[in-house]
Amino acid sequence: MTNSSPLTQDELKALVGQAALQYVVPGGIVGVGTGSTVNKFIDALAGMKNEISGAVSSSVASTERLKALGIAVFDANEVESLAVYIDGADEIDRQGYMVKGGGAALTREKIVAALASRFVCIVDESKLVPTLGRFPLPVEVIPMAVQHITRRFAALGGVARLRLKDGQPLVTDNGQQILDVTGLSIKDPSAFESDVNQWPGVVTVGVFAHQKASVCLVGTAQGMVKTF
Ligand code: 5RP
Repeated sequence: MTNSSPLTQDELKALVGQAALQYVVPGGIVGVGTGSTVNKFIDALAGMKNEISGAVSSSVASTERLKALGIAVFDANEVESLAVYIDGADEIDRQGYMVKGGGAALTREKIVAALASRFVCIVDESKLVPTLGRFPLPVEVIPMAVQHITRRFAALGGVARLRLKDGQPLVTDNGQQILDVTGLSIKDPSAFESDVNQWPGVVTVGVFAHQKASVCLVGTAQGMVKTF
């Protein structure tokens, strides 16, 4: 009997996580992102751990998962460049522009992405958007600037809310806080990223335009991986 039911979101994540292995360069160090989709990639990467030197990780959570599977983790300062960085996204458009940071790891993700020649984004099809702005935009900020930055987003028509965890402001791996901004439609991602990055107190804005995806692997309900 054939099973024609569409794949679950979890199965789609596993599909693209597995598909991303083809971009890993044997003998090299791979840049590794953060999130539930990347967790599937890390699990798949464990199957070829003897063929790579190790990884540079974008979060404490990914580092712990990599190490638990026996994959060496290098500090970003130990490597000059990476052939590839593999990460998920909260949304991605057809040009490869992304919003990231749903897992609060955007700053380290952008740093590791900047080391890499190629950014391979792995997503299920729910993440595809025509224009960035559907997902609340994560912005990592210095705590003393929260109200100032909230007012600056309000002037753009956005509503910024401090991300909480267990009722308290979430603290990132870098000791900072996250604002999630709704109500934005980001028509020029490169200009938007450059502009917001200049605001005093902004550590990193979750628009990835200067570090956009070079390749996107999209898991579809039919169990196929589309590439663009
Ligand atoms: C973490 C990220 C993730 O890539 C993004 O949130 C997608 O996560 P998931 O694969 O769990 O949907 O940017 O900061």
